[in-house]
Formats: sequence, C-alpha cells, structure tokens
Amino acid sequence: MCAKQVKKAPHEVPTTGHEWDGIREYDNPMPRWWVWVFYATIVFSIWYTAAYPAWPLIDRATRGYLGQNTRADVDAEIKRFDDANAEIKAKLVAADLGAIAKDDALNQYATAAGAAVFKTWCAQCHGSGAAGVQGKGYPNLLDNDWLWGGAIEDIHTTISHGIRNTTDPDARYSEMPKFGVDGLLEPAQIGEVVEYVLQISKQDHDATKAAAGATVFADNCAACHMENGAGDRAQGAPALNDAIWLYGGDRDTLTQTVTGARFGVMPSWTGRLSEDEIRAVATYVHSLGGGE
Ligand code: HEC
Ligand code: HEC
Repeated sequence: MCAKQVKKAPHEVPTTGHEWDGIREYDNPMPRWWVWVFYATIVFSIWYTAAYPAWPLIDRATRGYLGQNTRADVDAEIKRFDDANAEIKAKLVAADLGAIAKDDALNQYATAAGAAVFKTWCAQCHGSGAAGVQGKGYPNLLDNDWLWGGAIEDIHTTISHGIRNTTDPDARYSEMPKFGVDGLLEPAQIGEVVEYVLQISKQDHDATKAAAGATVFADNCAACHMENGAGDRAQGAPALNDAIWLYGGDRDTLTQTVTGARFGVMPSWTGRLSEDEIRAVATYVHSLGGGE
C-alpha cells in the first residue's frame, strides 16, 4: 500500500463554518510542500539580512557578515585599471608633446583615452563629433581653420588654460571692441564694413558700400583681423575671408557681431583634468584631421 494519504471525500472534511449563499469553506490543511517552502523563505531572509548589507542606517546600511560591498568592488576595479595604465600615463606626461604622435603605443593610448575625456568634458560645447555648434561660437575642431593654432603645443595650451575665462590667469585673452554699442563707429560705417566683410568672404554685397568699408576695415579691424581679413592666431581673431564662421557670416549676424562684439569663453582644465588627461585629449583633438 502506498504511503500517500488517501484524499478525504468532501463530506469528510470539516468546514470553517464560513458560508456564503450556500457555498461553504472547507478547512483543508495547506499542502505540506507549500508550508515547507514558506518556512524556508523565512530562514533564508533571516540569513540574508545577516549576511548582506540590508538594514538602512543614517549614512550607510549594515555591512553583513560576508562583507560584500559593490562600491568597494568598483573602486578596486578602477584602481586595477589605473595601476595597469600608470606606466603609460607617466610616459605620456614625461614625453615631448611633439613626440607623442610618433610613438605608436603612446599615440594609441592617448587617442583612445582622449576620446573618452572629450565625450565627458568637451562634447557638451564642441559636439560629440567635435564639429562644434554653428552660430553659437563653439568652434569646429575637425577642420584646419584654427583660432588660436592647431599645432599640438597650441592645442595643449588652449585646453590647459582655456579662453577668456576669469579663473585662469594664463587663459588666452583678447577682446574685440563693441563698435556699435560703444559708439566707436557710426551705424552707416558698420553697414559699410559689413559689406566689405561680405565681399572678402565672397558673398553677395553692395560694391559701393564695400569700397568705403575697406577703409573702415583698414582703420579699425585690420590690427586684429589683418589685411584682407586673414585673421591672427596670436589674438584669436578669426579669419574673415573664408566661409568658416564662428557666429555666422550673413549680413544680420555680421552686423550684430560688429555692433556688440563677441566674447567666447572656454573654461580652463588645469586642476580639473590631470596632465595625462589634458595631453590625451590634446592628442585626440590634434588627430581629428585639422592638427598641424
Ligand atoms: C563651456 C563650453 C566649452 C567647453 C566645455 C569646452 N570648450 Fe573648447 N572652446 C569653447 C569656446 C567658446 C571656444 C572658442 C573661444 C574663442 O572664441 O576663441 C573653444 C575653443 C577651443 C579650442 C581652440 C580652437 C581653435 O580654433 O583654436 C580648442 C582646441 C578646444 N576648445 C578644445 C576643447 C577641449 C579639448 C575641451 C574639453 C576638455 C573643451 N574645448 C571644452 C568652449 C568650450
Ligand atoms: C582687438 C582686436 C579686434 C578688433 C580691432 C576687431 N576684432 Fe573682430 N574679432 C576679434 C576677436 C578676438 C574675435 C573672436 C571673438 C570670439 O571668438 O568670441 C572677433 C570676431 C569677429 C567676427 C566673428 C567671426 C565669425 O567667425 O563669426 C567678425 C565678423 C569680426 N570680428 C569682425 C570685425 C570687424 C568688421 C572689425 C572692425 C570693425 C573687427 N572685427 C575688429 C578681435 C578684433
């Protein structure tokens, strides 16, 4: 005879006494397996709260006797990578800037690490692909049109100290006068010089006004933007005779620029990024296509 309990017929099972509209509730015991699983979950949960971080305290949770700590795991993992890269980072910091691109291993590391730095710290202004933001004053870093210079040393200086920020005494600095706002030029003269800029950038222009604008330009603008608007990197004065614009080359935008001037600011990264990170991102920017 099998040990299995013989199921009681319905009329043999006691009822709980509950009855709704003739439906009676039988008082069957819980299945054995269910009860044991239930006890097992209680035992498991007591063990779990003792073994793992569980009870929230004010600034952390109870440790748990197994000492598991995901934050420490992440720290250890980061340290593992830092240790693995320590040697190449030291080499990057010690290297002559010009020599980085010539050392394959160093160049490969710097470009990859620099791309990661760029995505984290630079992309919000320069765009994730470094193409800049047209019309907003965030320059394209992919082309070979440089405001302050495209040699690795120039790029390194620009990134280390930034541009026109007030936090770094070594920041690159220059300031275009506000010709309209400060009354340095009459509105008519601004109109003329704008036609001249349209002319040298090979756009539709009024030739008579542009001829008068050439004189205004020579007297007021050429000191920074150079003859024919070739630009001057020593002052970060953009070339005006090409089709590449920081703020825009249409008549309205040019009028606005000459009237109120622009003052593009880039933060300084010394102190915020380590020297190996600055060198890595400089190498990355230099490698993008426009490096000199
Ligand atoms: C808050 C916005 C901002 C951030 C963030 C920023 N930049 Fe810039 N960057 C600018 C502006 C604005 C200019 C142009 C300034 C000017 O008009 O001269 C510039 C110019 C540059 C130039 C000079 C380009 C040239 O033609 O000479 C380089 C190189 C550069 N940035 C690299 C970087 C790198 C690398 C990072 C990240 C570490 C970065 N920038 C982060 C705003 C930013
Ligand atoms: C003291 C130097 C200086 C003088 C003088 C000067 N500029 Fe500038 N100009 C700059 C600088 C620096 C910038 C870049 C500003 C920035 O990046 O935010 C600039 C930017 C511009 C731009 C924007 C170019 C673009 O790509 O969007 C135009 C246009 C311009 N200047 C026209 C003129 C004209 C026209 C005059 C004369 C009436 C003039 N500037 C005089 C220094 C000067």
